[in-house]
Amino acid sequence: MRILFLGDIVGQPGVAFVKRALPVLTACEAFDLVIANAENASGGSGLTPGAYRQLRDAGIDLVTLGDHIYKKQDIIPVLHQDERICKPANFPADAPGRDFALATARDGTPVAVISLLGRTFMRPVDCPFRAADRVLQALGDRVRCVVVDMHAEATGDKYLMGHHLKGRVSAVLGTHTHVPTADEQVLAGGTAFISDVGMTGPYDSVLGRRVDRVLPTTITFVPSSFEVATGDPRLAGAVIELDAQTGRAAAIRRVMLDEAGLAALPQR
Ligand SMILES: [Fe+2]
Ligand SMILES: [Fe+2]
Repeated sequence: MRILFLGDIVGQPGVAFVKRALPVLTACEAFDLVIANAENASGGSGLTPGAYRQLRDAGIDLVTLGDHIYKKQDIIPVLHQDERICKPANFPADAPGRDFALATARDGTPVAVISLLGRTFMRPVDCPFRAADRVLQALGDRVRCVVVDMHAEATGDKYLMGHHLKGRVSAVLGTHTHVPTADEQVLAGGTAFISDVGMTGPYDSVLGRRVDRVLPTTITFVPSSFEVATGDPRLAGAVIELDAQTGRAAAIRRVMLDEAGLAALPQR
């Protein structure tokens, strides 16, 4: 089974590029399931129900969020009703949303995704390790293919989660920092790992925001609105090859698709 996982989709440029590029890429690669982190999809912070629908219609089966989950509060009814989208599992029990999202892959295999937030240089949250243990126990044997979105600032937090969950989940994939790392590997027991898959959005930017806003504000301390940039949209993520029966990952590879790369793919 082949799963594509996309990193933080940023703003309308990110959503628009997903809509154009994902169907073409999926036709080439025959993904069985597509997962994406969409915490920055609407205006760079949060996710509206409309953008969620657009991403689902573009071919994304499961959606995770992160620290910006409730920035667009009209997503809350969707978080209650829709089993394809989840909250960070180490948020308080009373925070809206479910602990995991679930879908059936093209080949008939059930796949779950769990979202966890790191605790270094981030707002205090519950222990992500114990939250992961709790959700895995709740999933039990009915779902063998489990992907974890480790949404954290520090690479150490991500490695610790990879080692905590190795041999117990199919993949631990990092998001939040928006910069892809080159450390993809399969850990002992068949757990694919990477510190960060990178963002899906405008790369002519500072992590997705306009350079001409962020840079002067950083130097002068005069505030400005950090609007989403537009130039050089790219799709970034990782492809995991796994055994549907055992849930073990056999391989992980990075994906970075820009306009030129998209144009070079066979178009239907
Ligand atoms: Fe993000
Ligand atoms: Fe984030």
